Amino acid sequence: MCGIIGHVGTDDALDTLLTGLENLEYRGYDSAGIAVQNGSGIAVQKRSGKVEELKSSIGERHIEGNVGIGHTRWSTHGPPTDENAHPHTDGTEDVAVVHNGIIENYAGLKTWLRERGHTFTSDTDTEVIPHLIQYYLDEGMESEAAFRRAIDELEGSYAVTAMVDGEHVLYAARKGSPLVVGVEDDEFFLASDVPAFLEYTDTVAYLEDGDVAIIDVEGVEFTDLAGESISRELETVEWDPEQAGKGEYDHFMLKEIHEQPTALAQAIEGRIDPENGRIALEDFPPGTFDGVENVQLIACGTSYHAALYGSVALNQAGIHATALLANEYSVTAPPVDDDTLVIAVTQSGETADTLSALRQATAAGADTLTVTNVVGSTAAREADDTLFIRAGPEIGVAATKTFSSQAVMLTLLAQRIAADARDETPADLQSLLPDLAQMPGQLEDLLATDDAAHIASQYQGSQSYFFIGRGLGYPVALEGALKFKEITYEHAEGFASGELKHGPLALVTPDTPVFAVFTGEEDEKTLKNAEEAQTRGAPVIAVCPEGHRAAEVADEHLEIPDADDELAGLLANVQLQLVSYHAAELLDRPIDKPRNLAKSVTVE
Ligand code: F6R
Repeated sequence: MCGIIGHVGTDDALDTLLTGLENLEYRGYDSAGIAVQNGSGIAVQKRSGKVEELKSSIGERHIEGNVGIGHTRWSTHGPPTDENAHPHTDGTEDVAVVHNGIIENYAGLKTWLRERGHTFTSDTDTEVIPHLIQYYLDEGMESEAAFRRAIDELEGSYAVTAMVDGEHVLYAARKGSPLVVGVEDDEFFLASDVPAFLEYTDTVAYLEDGDVAIIDVEGVEFTDLAGESISRELETVEWDPEQAGKGEYDHFMLKEIHEQPTALAQAIEGRIDPENGRIALEDFPPGTFDGVENVQLIACGTSYHAALYGSVALNQAGIHATALLANEYSVTAPPVDDDTLVIAVTQSGETADTLSALRQATAAGADTLTVTNVVGSTAAREADDTLFIRAGPEIGVAATKTFSSQAVMLTLLAQRIAADARDETPADLQSLLPDLAQMPGQLEDLLATDDAAHIASQYQGSQSYFFIGRGLGYPVALEGALKFKEITYEHAEGFASGELKHGPLALVTPDTPVFAVFTGEEDEKTLKNAEEAQTRGAPVIAVCPEGHRAAEVADEHLEIPDADDELAGLLANVQLQLVSYHAAELLDRPIDKPRNLAKSVTVE
């Protein structure tokens, strides 16, 4: 949820750091700061608030130097104050450190350091790191050894980057929180996420857990914590800087909603063969999922809704599947055995709750698979296998294109697991695959309509917004409501259609529009449920294809193209994303950065 940027080279560091922080702001944004080695000490500037406020606070201050680090923070220990913003120093500004993650033993370390004369000025766990480094420097160690020794003392998760006064070097270490090095001739970058430095280079090397990187103008050296040299390959990332910018759109969210045709085309490229009714998933030859009897899908938030979508698809394909909230898994995990496959569904691949559930499943002996968007992410590295959804970078905090791509991947996976388990191609594939191949085109058409904007404005100011659906429409209803509340700050709830009459109907009034999602699964029943709300005065908005009976009965109609039952919900979801977006725009909400939320939640 926080962001790290670092730079060593011959160019001035300040601009690179500030650009990197702006690119990273989506990861966390209640404070920001930088530290630059300026020839006569380390200059530190940090502020609560946005990067913009940090920039104005720098003002005329002369911060020049080729080595620096920066950070955007989303508070975990202590409120968002100037003091708690990173970088943290040892008090004398001989050592500066930025850190993502949580130091679990920081209280004990703090006491130990206090007993040795160290004074602390923040509430953060991070501040112990520069003090520890300084302690070992005072003991006579060289900087590199002092850094390694300090890191060795830390328990918990971290991506740490440190600099020491008078040196043209960055020291970095990773355990449980991502770090990536970027290389362009004699300019070196370090960041928690590639988009931070994408305008400077696309050549990267990912640190693995337990790695230490020492970067200076001569190059990067990777070692383990003990100092043993290791090799980490340089890779070229395919995201271009244009892609990481907003382009012609007012918000990343809108841009990402409009990227869904491309994202889906990328997700299915080379993976479906509509003519022969086959699904080819790389690294998974036919028979891979032989013997899988039970699937547990673990995820949080929007990814949980995609997981639920996947579990419905699996159950409908005859495979026993359960979607579980990753943050509940430690207390509610069903047993796993040799026939169990546990699938972690996580856009970022860094969600702490999901990683913890994944580790628990691994420890219990389950086969594990990650479905993620981020190559090199922790979940991708830790699971036995990974399927990448190939959606491209998603910057808006509210997940949109990654939900669609995850749901499509899980739909394909469900069919493949069922095909392997039954040793035959499921009959549904004959209609599903051609429809899937058409879906990017259908989405283009849907995105060219403005019905959603009209609905958003018509129901603006309502007391509450309800979303209902059945079968695959149920996760879509939950997701529709989550997106709506997340970016509009208005009250919204999603229900299984049939549940409305078991309690929530008491909330229904003429001031509570009900969005009803029709996916071809017992639509008559869903329509009846919608009518039960309509009878109590609630306006009903039917999300369904043209010519569907619901479109006549409902007060309003949000049209979706005709599609296979397994895909209709995804098209409906895109209409609901647009409704949320336009409703939030009318309310002038900070759509890409909703209050209190962060893109990647790396704490449990
Ligand atoms: C909501 C949203 C979150 C994430 C959740 C899990 O729009 O994006 O609910 O889905 O925090 O994140 P990942 O998918 O990165 O594990």
